[in-house]
Amino acid sequence: MFNKSELCLLQVMDALLLLLITAVVTFANELPSDTSGCYNMNTETFRLLEGEAFYFLPFPVTDLDLPDENFTWYKNNSKVTNITTEEENSIHYHGGALFFINISSADSGHYTARQTLPSGNCQFHHVTITVFNSSSRGQTNYGPNNNTELNKRLICPTPVIKTCHIHNGTFTWYKDGSLIEGENKWDMMIDAATKAHEGTYTCICTWTHNHREHNSSGSRSLVVRDPVLHQNVEILSPVNSEQLVDEGSSIKLNCSILCGINVAHKCKASWKINEKEVSRMDGYHQSINTTNKMPSNHTYSTSTLTIDRVSAQDFQHVFKCFGEGQYTSDFKTVTLKARESAVPLVIRCVCVLVGSVFAVVFIKCFAIDLVLFFRPFFPQSRNKKDPRMYDAYVVYQTEGLQKDTEEQLFSFVTSSLPSVLEDKFGYRLFIHGRDDIPGEDRLELVENCIKESKRLMVILTPASGSNIKDKPPFTSPETSVVGGFDWQIGLYHALVQNELKVILIQLGDPGPQGYTHHPPGLQHLIRKSAPIRWPEGCQRPGFQKSRFWKRVRYLMPVTPAKNQEVTALV
Ligand SMILES: *[C@@H]1O[C@H](CO)[C@@H](O)[C@H](O)[C@H]1NC(C)=O
Ligand SMILES: *[C@@H]1O[C@H](CO)[C@@H](O)[C@H](O)[C@H]1NC(C)=O
Ligand SMILES: *[C@@H]1O[C@H](CO)[C@@H](O)[C@H](O)[C@H]1NC(C)=O
Ligand SMILES: *[C@@H]1O[C@H](CO)[C@@H](O)[C@H](O)[C@H]1NC(C)=O
Ligand SMILES: *[C@@H]1O[C@H](CO)[C@@H](O)[C@H](O)[C@H]1NC(C)=O
Ligand SMILES: *[C@@H]1O[C@H](CO)[C@@H](O)[C@H](O)[C@H]1NC(C)=O
Ligand SMILES: *[C@@H]1O[C@H](CO)[C@@H](O)[C@H](O)[C@H]1NC(C)=O
Ligand SMILES: *[C@@H]1O[C@H](CO)[C@@H](O)[C@H](O)[C@H]1NC(C)=O
Ligand SMILES: *[C@@H]1O[C@H](CO)[C@@H](O)[C@H](O)[C@H]1NC(C)=O
Ligand SMILES: *[C@@H]1O[C@H](CO)[C@@H](O)[C@H](O)[C@H]1NC(C)=O
Ligand SMILES: *[C@@H]1O[C@H](CO)[C@@H](O)[C@H](O)[C@H]1NC(C)=O
Repeated sequence: MFNKSELCLLQVMDALLLLLITAVVTFANELPSDTSGCYNMNTETFRLLEGEAFYFLPFPVTDLDLPDENFTWYKNNSKVTNITTEEENSIHYHGGALFFINISSADSGHYTARQTLPSGNCQFHHVTITVFNSSSRGQTNYGPNNNTELNKRLICPTPVIKTCHIHNGTFTWYKDGSLIEGENKWDMMIDAATKAHEGTYTCICTWTHNHREHNSSGSRSLVVRDPVLHQNVEILSPVNSEQLVDEGSSIKLNCSILCGINVAHKCKASWKINEKEVSRMDGYHQSINTTNKMPSNHTYSTSTLTIDRVSAQDFQHVFKCFGEGQYTSDFKTVTLKARESAVPLVIRCVCVLVGSVFAVVFIKCFAIDLVLFFRPFFPQSRNKKDPRMYDAYVVYQTEGLQKDTEEQLFSFVTSSLPSVLEDKFGYRLFIHGRDDIPGEDRLELVENCIKESKRLMVILTPASGSNIKDKPPFTSPETSVVGGFDWQIGLYHALVQNELKVILIQLGDPGPQGYTHHPPGLQHLIRKSAPIRWPEGCQRPGFQKSRFWKRVRYLMPVTPAKNQEVTALV
């Protein structure tokens, strides 16, 4: 009925039993005997199921054929009840063995046997049974099957195996009350156990006694534990070794670690301050939370260190995030740094803004000065050579002027203009009245001179009240004032040919009527760029440096015609 390996196991079990017997006997011998001179053996305890059969052979007894006379079995509860060997009784005995057939809850209690030994000494055997009905079947479980291997071996509880072994019984296996086909040994294997295999496994031994079949069962629950993976402790947080913080504020520092899968029992994150445990320091609180995160079951541990009020000393402390796993540990240190207050930042921004505004204003105000200042450093190289002879052709109205205007104009054209632009800054001007060669063909001269000039400098004078209506100066060339052609040819070259730039200089106040007495082309130019106003009485020393002359020079060619000729010759 038993195969080779089973027999082997049983032999091992028997050998073990023998070993234990000798141990117990030695032990028992040393126990003080009671008044009757008997030794008490330890009490064995069983939890049994109503309706089943139970076979009990006291632990040290191995001989099944001991005479009945050498045993007296009785139930030792509130009162002592003798047990006989009569088979009709549901509880009877044979030799050392006690039989319970169709056990009932009333049978719960303490049973004792007195054995007379060949030596004449005696032994007391004790057994306590508790009977449960089928609705409390779970109480009879022999405990979980605990092996951690993936392939589980379920072994029927030892008393059931012993009963079956002695009575040549047969095994059947049940899982949660349903029969498992094909399993009829004292153990069964489950390969690659999963959660689906979890449950209560019951082995029933069906054995025959006195020509009747009886059942004795034992159950174990199978627990398939989650896979456990210890990995090297990984510190997830803190990431940076510096933490910005405001002094006096409260802060939470998080130390977060990952230890593996389902290892919450061996995973702990904690903070240390200058290598000291936080729990012993005032003003710091630490809370540690270790959980297996669903659904991956990764084990994280987080220690949150709360500093109620960050003090100046805290900036000197070393905060150490310490992670501890089953086999490894790791740490990361953090220091606190005072966060820069916003005030210097704001001041810096304001400074930059003010500086920028100042720079813009400065550049706008002194653009001309700057250009003039830097002009000598960037001479002709950038500007392509202009072979024209004159830097500017100066035109102005000579007729129909009021007396003071005429004087002012005369002084400006003959004295101020040449003394500054020609004498001081080396420009070559063509000025009417001064530079005309008498007798020359005027039209041809004007045409040539304007073509040979880089700028057309127009001196605007206010119209005298009288000549506006009766003498429109530009209507007919014959009656026109000196310079009438000049205006027209100059404007033609400036506006139509776009050959030369126009510099407008305003003398005196044009009055309410403005420059309406000038030709439309000129009015267009005046609208486009405001004329440079000649400040009256500007004859004081150093006046060449005045704003007026700077603006004029700004509009004049970069290199005076004279210098260009020199460089051209070289
Ligand atoms: C009954 O059992 C108790 C211990 O449970 C023991 O002290 C007592 O001696 C026993 N009585 C008899 C008659 O064996
Ligand atoms: C039980 O058995 C003992 C010993 O055999 C005997 O002395 C005693 O009288 C019996 N008790 C009853 C109630 O039969
Ligand atoms: C077992 O005992 C119960 C009462 O305790 C009885 O109803 C039942 O018929 C018995 N079963 C057998 C197989 O004797
Ligand atoms: C049974 O008990 C008698 C004394 O009553 C003793 O002489 C005998 O050796 C015992 N037998 C065994 C097998 O223990
Ligand atoms: C089973 O036993 C429990 C207490 O042990 C009792 O409450 C319950 O009624 C019993 N059930 C049956 C079916 O006897
Ligand atoms: C089974 O596992 C539980 C909990 O892990 C443990 O307390 C118990 O001692 C184990 N039993 C055996 C037989 O290994
Ligand atoms: C069990 O079987 C063996 C032989 O296989 C036999 O010697 C023994 O008497 C049997 N036991 C019972 C209780 O039937
Ligand atoms: C033993 O158990 C089996 C299966 O549960 C059942 O079919 C059979 O009737 C039981 N026998 C007795 C005597 O209880
Ligand atoms: C730590 O975690 C808490 C809550 O998760 C958060 O409020 C706090 O800002 C974190 N601390 C740091 C320094 O990141
Ligand atoms: C630990 O953290 C988890 C989630 O992160 C939360 O559900 C749980 O309540 C926390 N436990 C404690 C003791 O704070
Ligand atoms: C995580 O554990 C739960 C229950 O403990 C289980 O149902 C789930 O399958 C596990 N997940 C993984 C990925 O192992």
